[in-house]
Amino acid sequence: MTEPSVSRFRAIDLIRKKRDGGALSAAEIQYLVKGCTDGSIPDYQMAAWLMAVVLRGMTREETASLTHAMLHSGEVLDLSFLPAKKVDKHSTGGVGDKTSLVLAPLVAAGGLFVPMISGRGLGHTGGTLDKLESIPGFRVGLSVSEFHRVLKACGCSMIGQTEKIAPADRKLYALRDMTGTVESPYLICASIMSKKLAEGTDALVLDVKTGSGAFMKKEEDAVFLAELMVETGERMGKQMVALITDMNQPLGRMVGNALEVQECIEILQGGGPEDLRELCLHLAAWMFFVGGATKTVADGKRLAEEIIASGKAFERFRHMVELQGGDISVINDPTRLPAAEHRVDVSNRQAGYVTAIACEQVGTACVILGGGRERQEDSVDPAVGIVVHKKIGDKVSAGEALCTIHCHSDQQAAPAKKLLEESYQIAVDPPAHKPSLVHRAIYKGEH
Ligand code: URA
Repeated sequence: MTEPSVSRFRAIDLIRKKRDGGALSAAEIQYLVKGCTDGSIPDYQMAAWLMAVVLRGMTREETASLTHAMLHSGEVLDLSFLPAKKVDKHSTGGVGDKTSLVLAPLVAAGGLFVPMISGRGLGHTGGTLDKLESIPGFRVGLSVSEFHRVLKACGCSMIGQTEKIAPADRKLYALRDMTGTVESPYLICASIMSKKLAEGTDALVLDVKTGSGAFMKKEEDAVFLAELMVETGERMGKQMVALITDMNQPLGRMVGNALEVQECIEILQGGGPEDLRELCLHLAAWMFFVGGATKTVADGKRLAEEIIASGKAFERFRHMVELQGGDISVINDPTRLPAAEHRVDVSNRQAGYVTAIACEQVGTACVILGGGRERQEDSVDPAVGIVVHKKIGDKVSAGEALCTIHCHSDQQAAPAKKLLEESYQIAVDPPAHKPSLVHRAIYKGEH
């Protein structure tokens, strides 16, 4: 029997089919993605279907069909006019997870092209686009021709999903953010891979987060997601690797949009916190390796270190900011980034060691301060955030500050302060192990 033509499907039937555990055909998924993108299927029906997917899951075929439909909801860029390999990195989302701002200019300064399509804050996690927009004037909504021009001129460009590129992800991403439908490996895979396949990259490094601040709290779930994405990319002829990395505590010290830009500038200038610097070097090393710029990952790491030390990565960042309309005087002097004037310390009563941090709560604290969205129409406050002083394994004395909230008043800080107080676990003895930054790499060949 032949399938009904696309126009004969009804969203209600497809929601019920998924709700009852059925598998949708490629044509049915195509109908939903098209209807969501052109607005003919209302958000409430898409949200119901997304929730059914979260609860019931998807088959491999459904995931491939969803990725394909989302990828072809807009243009697939052809960047073959660029004279070197194109490579990108994407994270599944974390707290203080800001490596993209360092990696794009760093890897471009090493001779590869980095066409990066990123997202906004999602759930409790921060978004690259929101961080970039804390630089006054920075435009993440470039047209395709502007994106080409910036890439050609400085080797990297960072934009969001547009009406033209991955528009279905733009719509679904915002809807998932507001409806508790982020945490599905199938939806995350389709969201990430549709954008990444649309941007015309040759190779992709995936940073798949696991731990208390990640969407995939358990390592086995992170590995499942990583394998799903690697398989999807390889099927499309891309060089792929996925690193499973730790998100049991905020990465670096800063959580919040402008604060995170400031910390990235420190890294690009050769300073910054060690965990963030190490992860950036590790991810850059893999980008150089899968992009064919170095023979081994170890060579890639050496190259990344040299480029940062030479000042070329920072220079490249300034150039990209300038080309995308950003005010480079704030890059030269980050004290001019948007800043909140009020500070509230979060302290602990007892002395001891930090043994765990409920990292998702740290991200949520930043969202409720205004650093993220609670409704689609909310605007993000670039200035607010949290500066983390104590991480897992650190010794603390009674009354010492664990972190400091950057905000506009005590009243505004109160709910975030409560969340942060509850998120730290302090014990008399130090933890047996500190979390290791990179748990493993999922890659088929020698490296
Ligand atoms: N990043 C994305 O682009 N999409 C997701 O669903 C999660 C993280």
